[in-house]
Amino acid sequence: MIIASNFKTNHNRQSTKEFVNFINSQNYFSEVRVYPPFTALGHFELTPNIRIGAQNFYPAQNGSFTGEIGFDQLEEFEVESVLIGHSERRHIFGETQESICKKYDFAKGKESEIIYCVGEPKEIREQGIEAVMSYIWEQFDGIDIDYDELVVAYEPVWAIGTGLSASLEDIKEVLDRLRMRIKSPLLYGGSVKVETTKDILSIENCGGILVGTASWSVENFSKMIEISDNI
Ligand code: PGA
Repeated sequence: MIIASNFKTNHNRQSTKEFVNFINSQNYFSEVRVYPPFTALGHFELTPNIRIGAQNFYPAQNGSFTGEIGFDQLEEFEVESVLIGHSERRHIFGETQESICKKYDFAKGKESEIIYCVGEPKEIREQGIEAVMSYIWEQFDGIDIDYDELVVAYEPVWAIGTGLSASLEDIKEVLDRLRMRIKSPLLYGGSVKVETTKDILSIENCGGILVGTASWSVENFSKMIEISDNI
């Protein structure tokens, strides 16, 4: 099981260090991922217990891209995983499928693990499962789904940061349909809480969770990992 925490624009260097060092001090079986802010990279110990990831990057090794972070900068901190296609990048920052594909191809060329996020907005969910799946499959346009280091996260846009999680039935239905074409691990994300972790992780075809809000407390995040360890 993959248990991942996306810090988004939260935590500073000191609190990230305390968070990561606490997780590092535990002996978990689950595959833990933490995506801290760029500014906190390098401020904690790296151990094999956790894979550290980047929430975003510019698809270049280095160059003249003012304000951006390339792979040279990520490699310095031994970043081993990247998030691509997160709904906040697509919807708040207007990332297009074309720009997302450029990032995907670049990270693939670097043999980085990619957590590739897909998910439908509320108005599509209201049209039913066929509309949801055709929206999601379009988010795979130009994406190599056979890439060995791919992990797919199903994250309905309306469930992210809203406290409204998708129902277990809805999650199962989407993951089952994704599984027909995708062999990579499939995660769920969107208002996962400690209380809902066990049921979500027990869904067939669910290989883990990508958590924002509820994971920012290390106590909660470690509880989620313990639940996963015990499944
Ligand atoms: P959330 O975020 O847990 O706060 O809904 C999930 C995500 O954005 O990956």
